Amino acid sequence: MSGTPALDELPAYAALREHAAALRGLTLADLFDADPARGGTLRAQAAGIYLDYAKQRVTPETVELLVRLAEEAGVPERIEAMFAGERINVSEDRAVLHVALRAPRGERIESDGEDVVPQVHEVLDRMAAFSERVRSGAWTGATGRPIRNVVNIGIGGSHLGPEMATLALASFTRRDMRLRFVSNVDGSDFAEKTQDLDPAETLFVIVSKTFTTLETLTNAGTARDWVVAALGEGAVARHFVAVSTNAERVGAFGIDTENMFGFWDWVGGRYSMDSAVGLSVMLAIGPEGFGELLGGFRAMDEHLRGAPLAENLPVLLGLLSVWNTTLLGLRTVAVLPYAAELSRFAAYLQQLEMESNGKHVMLDGTPVRWATGPVLWGEPGTNGQHAFYQLMHQGTEVVPAEFIGFTEPLHPLGRHHDLLMANMFAQAEALAFGRDEVALRAAGSDEAQVAHRVCLGDRPSSTILVDGTLTPAALGKLVALYEHRVLTEGVLWGIDSFDQWGVELGKVLAGTLADEIEGDGAPDLAHDSSTNELVRRYRAARGRTV
Ligand code: F6P
Repeated sequence: MSGTPALDELPAYAALREHAAALRGLTLADLFDADPARGGTLRAQAAGIYLDYAKQRVTPETVELLVRLAEEAGVPERIEAMFAGERINVSEDRAVLHVALRAPRGERIESDGEDVVPQVHEVLDRMAAFSERVRSGAWTGATGRPIRNVVNIGIGGSHLGPEMATLALASFTRRDMRLRFVSNVDGSDFAEKTQDLDPAETLFVIVSKTFTTLETLTNAGTARDWVVAALGEGAVARHFVAVSTNAERVGAFGIDTENMFGFWDWVGGRYSMDSAVGLSVMLAIGPEGFGELLGGFRAMDEHLRGAPLAENLPVLLGLLSVWNTTLLGLRTVAVLPYAAELSRFAAYLQQLEMESNGKHVMLDGTPVRWATGPVLWGEPGTNGQHAFYQLMHQGTEVVPAEFIGFTEPLHPLGRHHDLLMANMFAQAEALAFGRDEVALRAAGSDEAQVAHRVCLGDRPSSTILVDGTLTPAALGKLVALYEHRVLTEGVLWGIDSFDQWGVELGKVLAGTLADEIEGDGAPDLAHDSSTNELVRRYRAARGRTV
């Protein structure tokens, strides 16, 4: 890591800049004209996932240069360093071992000389035993009633993954068990998510790696009051379990550490959905389903380690992302799953990508000289088509897209799935090739509308087509695909993809402001004049002295 030249010092980077300049002015239509068979070559497949990147603004030469860039930047070495438990999270001086969370029993993955795989399986076994007890009704609430509602309280990495996965795998969940997710410190979140629940049948899973997060501790305190008000203090042990790395704070909060499921500081929050953080997912889909999910992650891990760079799906996705973001200056990416169940997939990826790679300094703390993490956003298709795709087709901003689809439906209803996939393929085609005036006139378009109806095309996209349907295994593969893409990007950009210092400042300021907002007597405000006025106005509105 140290000693690796920066991105703009790599020979392949200079070659790529020249190459990008040479490609400028060539549209996707030109690239297809020059190489009509590129749809059959600019693609890769592994582990039941087909990646088509022929509609990216690349040629085979681009891919060759990008692969060279990955080699020069040391991507293969960094992948191995991760698996070897090296402290690749440099600024926090931590190993990055989420891959150990899905390692099979018997495999050896070390952190500081200790094999962590047995610990992982010890926790998985405890999670499985607990989940079986809850699901079978053997674990009851304080009044002896079985658990019907599970409320996950957590935020960021302790929320987005479990919620995304529970929704994605709805077809595999116990339909008689309601899963709810409370994350926001806004009291409405807790109130709305619990308003129809009976405390006697409700289990709270408090998920916080640090067990210090304001939102989670506030919601957990409210949840405890809610349970105690209905069932008495003695009910807490039957209605609360915790997922954390911090046993001391879990105990101090009042949750029996017997009912705590641990993980480790080598698991980053946004890389933790397959750790004990996924307890609510396991409660929903059962230990077997969770095992299949882990199997999917593992398949992608094995592919990452085993496949040559030019055929390596996560590496290719990472390279394409660096190509678009840094070399072509396209600064956002839309993730568009054509699967209604993936309604929270983009939100999940947003944290994964933007908390990981939204960085402005390199590993040694010096400023980067290139654009890093793109703004990631998205919504499932076809809904997005009737909302923001207009800008993607005709706006002045070029938004690279990533389409995700499945060859089989989860619910084989009439023509639905064929129509869904027809729309996905159509959108990628329309974005790439657009519609020109000639075609419009030939189709008899009203002359006054011709200019308005032109779609310029040349909007790049990749399509990820998954064999079969959205199973736990398929979801595991997809998540690991993106985890490793983020790693690849981070290595190329030369940044630490595993810290998140940028979120600290707002937390510190919020602490000060909470005191000033809540305190008795007019606070002595020393912020900027804008913030001071906002605090005064708010205090006045709440009837407090200003
Ligand atoms: O937003 C910052 C962050 O630290 C995320 O990285 C993390 O996923 C989230 O807060 C929640 O943290 P915790 O699990 O410690 O409550």
